[in-house]
Amino acid sequence: MTRAIYPGSFDPVTNGHLDVIKRAAKIVDELIVGVLNNNLKSPLFNVDNRVKMLNEVVADIPNVKVMAFDGLLVDFAHQVDAQVIIRGLRAVTDFEYELQMSQTNMVLDKDLETLFLSTRLEYAYLNSSTVKEVAYHGGDISRFVPDIVAKQVINKIEELKENENE
Ligand code: PNS
Repeated sequence: MTRAIYPGSFDPVTNGHLDVIKRAAKIVDELIVGVLNNNLKSPLFNVDNRVKMLNEVVADIPNVKVMAFDGLLVDFAHQVDAQVIIRGLRAVTDFEYELQMSQTNMVLDKDLETLFLSTRLEYAYLNSSTVKEVAYHGGDISRFVPDIVAKQVINKIEELKENENE
């Protein structure tokens, strides 16, 4: 049985992420979406909210599970007994960082393979930071993220703006 992890920050999950999840779930037996609880970054959503949103958008894919993780990805992979890491590649600009990350993980665990899925053209431009920026400036994010995510991003940003004005 092949168990893979699709790791990321998912702050928030986008349609591009969701497409990779659906495609990866067809390739492996079990896919764990690993949500990094990263204290170094300051995410818009806390890890519990990111996990919750992901759970809602993958609810209809039976072999996908969402879990938060801390620390090294290789340690998380051992913990859940995963043999493969899945990452999406959008463009050449992703390549250097992704290659470095996969090779670091390979040094840390020689048996852990990274499998890259090329992003569909329609999502090649998309990332979570852009979604937040567009939403912050009142733009339409409905084509970037699932509806339930769009609502939460808009609410969260309104909350943020209210706090900024206090
Ligand atoms: O969505 P992102 O922010 O591009 O995902 C990056 C992620 C979570 C895959 C990466 O930062 C990660 O694996 N972090 C865990 C720490 C780790 O294992 N670092 C060593 C590999 S470079």
